[in-house]
Amino acid sequence: MHHDLIPNTAPKTEISAELWNSAVRVLETNWAGDHMVPSRRLYPHQWSWDAAFIAIGLAYVNPTRAWRDLRSLFEAQWPDGRVPHIVFDPATAEADYFPGPGFWDVPAYGDRPARGSTGIVQPPMHAIAAWEVYRHAAAHGADCGRQARTELEWLYPRLVAQQRYLTGERNLGGGGLAAIVHPWESGLDNSPAWDEAMANVPADLGLLTTYRRRDLEVSDAAHRPTDVDYSRYVGLVLTYRAEGYSDDGLLGRHAFVVECPSFNSILATAELALAQIAGELGLAAEARTHRERARAITAAIVQRLWNPQTRTFHALDVRTGRLSPERCVSGLVPLMLPDLAAEQVEAVMAEARSDRFGISDLPAPSYDRTAPAFDTRRYWRGPLWINVNWLLRRGLLMHGFHDEAEDLRTAMVRLVHRNGHFEYFHPITGEGLGAPTFSWTAALSLDLLADRSVPAYARAA
Ligand code: SER
Repeated sequence: MHHDLIPNTAPKTEISAELWNSAVRVLETNWAGDHMVPSRRLYPHQWSWDAAFIAIGLAYVNPTRAWRDLRSLFEAQWPDGRVPHIVFDPATAEADYFPGPGFWDVPAYGDRPARGSTGIVQPPMHAIAAWEVYRHAAAHGADCGRQARTELEWLYPRLVAQQRYLTGERNLGGGGLAAIVHPWESGLDNSPAWDEAMANVPADLGLLTTYRRRDLEVSDAAHRPTDVDYSRYVGLVLTYRAEGYSDDGLLGRHAFVVECPSFNSILATAELALAQIAGELGLAAEARTHRERARAITAAIVQRLWNPQTRTFHALDVRTGRLSPERCVSGLVPLMLPDLAAEQVEAVMAEARSDRFGISDLPAPSYDRTAPAFDTRRYWRGPLWINVNWLLRRGLLMHGFHDEAEDLRTAMVRLVHRNGHFEYFHPITGEGLGAPTFSWTAALSLDLLADRSVPAYARAA
């Protein structure tokens, strides 16, 4: 690691120095030559939205690796613009992760070997990450700045193609939002937000005899999605795979088509980051177009995913036209949007401060604490995650809630310092759950310690 690149904002107290150093060690251990693995045992390949969160933190200690990680991911981009949710490491055996490349069996494309990736996507955090890494580089001197410029120029058209795929091919509901066609695409795999929509997906437990889960060999079953969930996950991939991962007519033939408030808020924020990048690259007209797109996506999120009765945002089942009745942390993520109207900002803040999600000593849980199905250990059905809280903090800063943003930052730093760089945490005790040395927890800890303010994205107006 290039320790000489640690900025002046590096930690000054003992706690923060310990946390900083442990985070750097996790990122050193999980570096795999040309990409970062989220966790050596549980996730031994490269994951899409992980790479974005990782780059944001890695930029403080090793910008070269941050850019390399993003480049490795986008080298696997499909000709239609989709950025796969996993890029497989050929050095890792098929048996070390399920579902591996043999199962996905994606069509050959470009000069990448066939089966180099999955055929589904994840939230498009990458334009946001690219802009963050670029901003950091400016603080690291001329060499870093030149490298950053080259990388930004390489990434920009690829990021635009990624957005074009999501806002074009994936506008399955026709209302201007991107639909996900698998819960894994949300990144919030077993969130209760999908329960109603998933009830319509056949659950064939026999599939788990043909295809054996590997996650339970390296992680506690009580912390992971259930077998019923997994059989549906496998079934959905098989259906999508059968047509070569084509999106044509998907709404009419696929069992899961959902619009997620968190995914789409990231989609809109990506347009704002692209506007910044285009401006930096001297593309003023393109910058304007990106801002207009952000405004249009924001309007569609409010129009399609806001429930005036519950006064929060919910997932929309595009097949039935029904909003999920569940209140999940993904419903708070639209706070990231600078153009969110005051009515929604106030309502989301009320939800964020309520008993359901209220941040006290601990950051926000992934699911409504007061719901009967709240499960303190099972992945996205209760435990708290650092990446989502990082997004919420960004929203708080965006709308001027500086004290609450600082409380949340302190709560996250304290939690990870006390418990370690876990994948997720028990939402009441703070106990670490899932993978113990998880890259995005480490990377985002660096960002929280450095405590840079959120970029002042110009409002689209
Ligand atoms: N998050 C899923 C897993 O557990 C798939 O991306 O492996």
